[in-house]
Amino acid sequence: MVKSYKLYINGEWIDTDDKLEVLNKYTQETYAEVAKASEKEVNQAVEAAQKAFKNNQMSPYKRYEILKRVSELLLENKEELAQNMTMEAGKPLKQTRTEIDRASQTVELSAEEAKRVHGEGVPVEAAPGSENRMAFTIKVPVGVVGAISPFNFPINLVAHKIAPAIAAGNAVVLKPTSKTPISALKLAELFEEAGLPKGFLNVVVGSGSTVGNQMMEDSRINMYTFTGSAKVGLKLKQNTGLNKLILELGNNSPVIVDKEADVDAAAANIAAKSFAFAGQVCISVQRIYVHEEVKEEFQNKLVDAIKDLNVGDPNDPDTDVGPMISEEEAKRAVSWIEEAKDAGAEVFYGGEREGALLKPTVMTNVKNDMKVVCEEIFAPVVSMIPFSNMEECINEVNESQYGLQGGIFTQNLDTAFYAAKNVEVGGLMINDSSQYRVDLMPYGGVKSSGWGKEGPKYSIDEMTEERLVVMNLAQK
Ligand code: SIN
Repeated sequence: MVKSYKLYINGEWIDTDDKLEVLNKYTQETYAEVAKASEKEVNQAVEAAQKAFKNNQMSPYKRYEILKRVSELLLENKEELAQNMTMEAGKPLKQTRTEIDRASQTVELSAEEAKRVHGEGVPVEAAPGSENRMAFTIKVPVGVVGAISPFNFPINLVAHKIAPAIAAGNAVVLKPTSKTPISALKLAELFEEAGLPKGFLNVVVGSGSTVGNQMMEDSRINMYTFTGSAKVGLKLKQNTGLNKLILELGNNSPVIVDKEADVDAAAANIAAKSFAFAGQVCISVQRIYVHEEVKEEFQNKLVDAIKDLNVGDPNDPDTDVGPMISEEEAKRAVSWIEEAKDAGAEVFYGGEREGALLKPTVMTNVKNDMKVVCEEIFAPVVSMIPFSNMEECINEVNESQYGLQGGIFTQNLDTAFYAAKNVEVGGLMINDSSQYRVDLMPYGGVKSSGWGKEGPKYSIDEMTEERLVVMNLAQK
């Protein structure tokens, strides 16, 4: 039976005549329908958030209690949430279960951080002529946070936006992607059950060109937090004036396999971290720079490890690689592979597509200007690029417009630290692939990969303003 979902505005579940159809991404059958917001509902959502923020501030301890309860509820409802996410995203059950555990962590970390939002003492009296003064800063919430979330982590990337915003004392208007809106609505249910006062969280579903644009133009929204493409991120940055922003954008993640790498470990790790959720993770391995001296050995071991991955039905708990988000996206990835082949690249492994399912694919003989290398492919496709000199390799790695995360496999400490100092990324993993993230760490990129950091402690910093208070004390 097709389930129906409503919008969440000012603590109420609101239906509309206009509906959005959500597909089961594996079978392509209709899975659910969701009320679509018009201008009116978006307006109501922003108004509710502004009112809640102005009139109903919660103490940090209250915020802690609510968030802590949401983190528990996520675990209590784990199986149902994971199964829903597998349906609406096509993400393998193994990975959606892990995502619920991570979301619970994200919300719990935010709960803990709610107790630690504080400023610092400022020794103004140390300045000449500033005797008899005392000063300190306080951290104040920015107000209304406009959050726009993607399909690839339908709960955890929503949690990374909502939970720190609430921990900091803000109110939120969330627009989840139309491809996977149900997980976000289910998370809102948990916030309601945990006792979040009305108006602090509002969820409006609709397209970027209507709901997203309206949110972008609403001057009552004080800050935006967005995960998605560099193109949309740039549009937000250009259209939101002097508002604060957190932008988590794309990447064509590089991993270097040095001649002094543990090749077995590198091959096993890279096979697992390139194809999880069909490569649709911003830090999925895309470019593998492998030293000439270990190239043959690494290539063979990588392919052996890929052959061990189970590809197919995301509902099967043993599946490692399921479908992409749509057949259209899988076709787009194949067209990039074909374009590269026409320009001289070879498919070393994989390449076959069946509907939205694209087999893990390894390309060789690629060139830097091929889309499979220089653009974010967001598909289960990696390119192998040989090198013989580390300095030249890192220069080539840095030619990318992106810089979110990267990795290097080497047993040589000097090489590892040379890479740490020189690879232009927000985070470099040593003896791990680019796709390493735990939710407490600072997460965010440089260049076209973004602006600002996620991770509850870091987001809270972005979602608050530091206000200086100076007291001019009477002379005694
Ligand atoms: C992303 O795709 O940017 C999120 C990666 C993650 O949270 O593991």
